[in-house]
Amino acid sequence: MTTPTTTKPLHAVGTAHTRVEGRDKVTGAARYAGEIPFDELAYGWLVLSTVTRGRIRSIEDAAVLAMPGVLTVLHHHNAPPVHTDYVGLMGPPDPTCAVFQHDRVPFMGWPVALVVAETSEQAREAAETLVVEYETEPHDVAFTADRPDAYAVDGHMQAVTAKGDLEAGLAASAVVVDEEYTTPEEHHNSMEPHAATARWEGGRLDVIDSNQGVTWVAGELANLFSLDPASVRVRSEHVGGGFGSKGVRAHQVAAVMAATILQRPVRVVMTRRQVFTLAGYRSPTAQRVRLGAHPDGRLRALEHRSLSMTSSVHEFVEPSAGVPRTMYDAEAHHTANRAVRLDVPTPTWMRAPGEAPGSFALESALDELAEKCGLDPIELRARNEPARGPVSGLPFSNRNLLGCFDEGARRFGWADRDPRPGLRSDGRWLLGTGTAAASFPAGAAPSTAGITAEADGTFTVRISAADIGTGARTALTLLAADGLEVAPDRVRVRIGDSEFGPAMIAGGSMGTRSWAWAVTTAAAELRERLVPGGDIPPQGITVRSDTTAAVGALAKMERHSFGAQFAEVAVDVATGEVRVRRMLGIFAAGRIVNPLTARNQLVGGMIWGISMALHEEAVRDEVSGGHYGADLAGYHIATHADVPDIEADWIEDHDPHDPTNIKGIGEVGIVGAAAAVTNAVWHATGVRHRSLPIRPDRVL
Ligand code: MOS
Repeated sequence: MTTPTTTKPLHAVGTAHTRVEGRDKVTGAARYAGEIPFDELAYGWLVLSTVTRGRIRSIEDAAVLAMPGVLTVLHHHNAPPVHTDYVGLMGPPDPTCAVFQHDRVPFMGWPVALVVAETSEQAREAAETLVVEYETEPHDVAFTADRPDAYAVDGHMQAVTAKGDLEAGLAASAVVVDEEYTTPEEHHNSMEPHAATARWEGGRLDVIDSNQGVTWVAGELANLFSLDPASVRVRSEHVGGGFGSKGVRAHQVAAVMAATILQRPVRVVMTRRQVFTLAGYRSPTAQRVRLGAHPDGRLRALEHRSLSMTSSVHEFVEPSAGVPRTMYDAEAHHTANRAVRLDVPTPTWMRAPGEAPGSFALESALDELAEKCGLDPIELRARNEPARGPVSGLPFSNRNLLGCFDEGARRFGWADRDPRPGLRSDGRWLLGTGTAAASFPAGAAPSTAGITAEADGTFTVRISAADIGTGARTALTLLAADGLEVAPDRVRVRIGDSEFGPAMIAGGSMGTRSWAWAVTTAAAELRERLVPGGDIPPQGITVRSDTTAAVGALAKMERHSFGAQFAEVAVDVATGEVRVRRMLGIFAAGRIVNPLTARNQLVGGMIWGISMALHEEAVRDEVSGGHYGADLAGYHIATHADVPDIEADWIEDHDPHDPTNIKGIGEVGIVGAAAAVTNAVWHATGVRHRSLPIRPDRVL
């Protein structure tokens, strides 16, 4: 076969394409980590602590070992050692992924044993029979705004920023807003729970997993088990949601331990309930926002403080006070993230960590300031557009927030809005509209990719990307096709295999942008290598790219996606029911690769914002230290019936300094969405809601 002679660019990018693996997914041909068959597969079932703090006194495994099919019971007396004294790709590991290493119990639902059996049913039966005795100690899971043991967190971006004299600025302000806002503990609830199968093959560890980054998880497992990184392979081809929760977790570690001891493949799948304690979550927050403004709404003083909780063994901070560092400037500008250590599992990244709860507080406070100044909320934001990053002092690569508001206001019909609250009704319903701003950082990280020109005239891209349901594989197919100047059906993109080399994880809204950079770089190089009409050898011609230097050379600037969220709600004050009637989000998010999946992703974020405003709340029982209703019956999320009319769209947005011109859309869709809904509830009823969710009992 000879190389293609097409030279005309085909421009697949920017046109709507259904997912390349969509047919496989809807027909069941796509296999997920928990359903790929293996010979000799054994099944592990995690046993979780039933106390919140204390020690394991005894694990009576003899009776369980005699049960049908049971192969082994792993716990702190017999488990292989793992090490957590390393710094991985995302920093030091959470020591709670090092299971079965000691007898301490740091939170309710901590893994104390793994029962392994021939079938999943046998493992579960035995796990439920296993008797574990504890010595309990008093615990503390009470998250409150006034914790005396709250501390200012260490470290880089998340800690404290301060410029100007805050108190003087507030005292001199004609208009002041000073309010507290709270958000509850929230959980990711991916459709596919966490699952891993581990086995040893030819002296190498092979793990089939569901995660957001195969080279990341492979590196963590190599560190934890002191293995040569080259001897660990992790694959994760299809992933049914991640949202920040799918990194290295107890299930992979337990599966590797059991596979090592039994020398056969072992699968560990989390149950829906186990996900609530083993997969991370979003910390509750207590935030205080103080705004001082001139009579015309221009800010002269701004303070945003946020308290979140972390576990007793690892620090993870929900950096909610970071939002004004991008959004609004003032002569006095102070932000602080604080934390309190409690006897709870370590929280983790959850879609727009920091920005989601932080934008609820800040964008609510802006709405309150607009009310006090007698200004339209969009006009207030226009008057507070910063010329440079309020904290960094760096220029913005581009900043299209007002472009989003203009387009959104026009399409939503904002111009006719009467700003006074509580005036409109439709039968028993009070009606209101609200808006809020959104932003999310647009970063890039080094990645590698390989592309092979095959002898049959097709192309194979190999990159250890993760498609966690976003459509990333399809986006990369379009980008590679354009880069190679061929039709997308001649390009096959293989992802989710650590053998393909290091690449960014699906996280921080940086996945597609970072992978696109590596794929387009490799495509350009491969085109150079291919002689039109020339022969391709049977093994094909392969080039590899590495964007480490190019990404490192990107000039330091403030790079962000922006958005404007609009919501219309109806509130029944008699029953406390709040219905979102319609919602519109307009975003400025760089080049949109695939409009079809981009819209899905943005709308998904906005729906999560509705859910955050009205439904989601994990409730912890202070007496037991565990959750009430840790499942999808007890933890309410928005469903189709909650989302009648929702639209996401975008405006032209071009970063002149960025070779990919992609900004990432994974997270900006949820930012500001809850505030748009709660601001609309105020407009309907005249009642401000500063604690989420707005449950029916809280409406009036
Ligand atoms: Mo996302 S919370 O960076 O997976």
